[in-house]
Amino acid sequence: MHRVDFNKAVKHVKHPAKIALAIMQTPTGKYNMITLEWFMRTSIQPAMFAISIGHSRYSYECLQQTDSFNLCFPTSSMVETAKLAGSTSGREIDKFKVSGEEWFSGRFRGLPILKNAAANFECEIVTQVKSGDHTIYVGEVKQSWIDEDKEDVLTYKDF
Ligand SMILES: Cc1cc2nc3c(=O)[nH]c(=O)nc-3n(C[C@H](O)[C@H](O)[C@H](O)COP(=O)(O)O)c2cc1C
Repeated sequence: MHRVDFNKAVKHVKHPAKIALAIMQTPTGKYNMITLEWFMRTSIQPAMFAISIGHSRYSYECLQQTDSFNLCFPTSSMVETAKLAGSTSGREIDKFKVSGEEWFSGRFRGLPILKNAAANFECEIVTQVKSGDHTIYVGEVKQSWIDEDKEDVLTYKDF
C-alpha cells in the first residue's frame, strides 16, 4: 500500500462502474442526453436516483430550467450513442438526431424512453445540492421501464 495522488487512486477502483444516460428537456423544447458515470440509487421508498452534472455541461443549463430527467441504462449495442453523448454537447448538436436512437414518450413528463436500453427510469427532481464544480440532482422515480431481453448494461471498461 502506498500513497498516490487522488486521480490515480480513484482510477484504481473505478472498474467496472456502470454507465448511464440522463435525458432532459432543453429550454427550446427539444431533448438532450448526457453520458454519466456519477449517479447512484439514494432511497428505497420512494425510489430515488441522484445524478451529478458538471456546471460546464449544456445538461446543467437544461436541468436548471426543468423539473425532471430520465435515467437510462444503455446496453453494449449502444456504445456509440454513449460515446457521442459523452463527447459532444447539446449546445452544438442534436444528439437524438445524430445517434438515430429510437424512442417513445414516457408517461410522466413525456421525456424520451430509449427503446434499445436495458432500463429507463422517469424521475422528478426533488432536491439539488451543489458539489464543487457539479450539482447533484436527486430524482424521485415516477415510472420504470425494462426490456426483459436486455441485461448487458454498459460499463466504464466499454469506453
Ligand atoms: C464515460 C463517461 C462518463 C461521464 N460521466 C459524467 C458525469 O457523471 N457527470 C458529468 O457531468 N459529465 C460526465 N461525463 C462528461 C459528459 O458526458 C460530457 O461532457 C458531455 O459531452 C456533456 O454534454 P452536454 O454539454 O450536452 O451536457 C462523462 C463522460 C464519459 C465519456
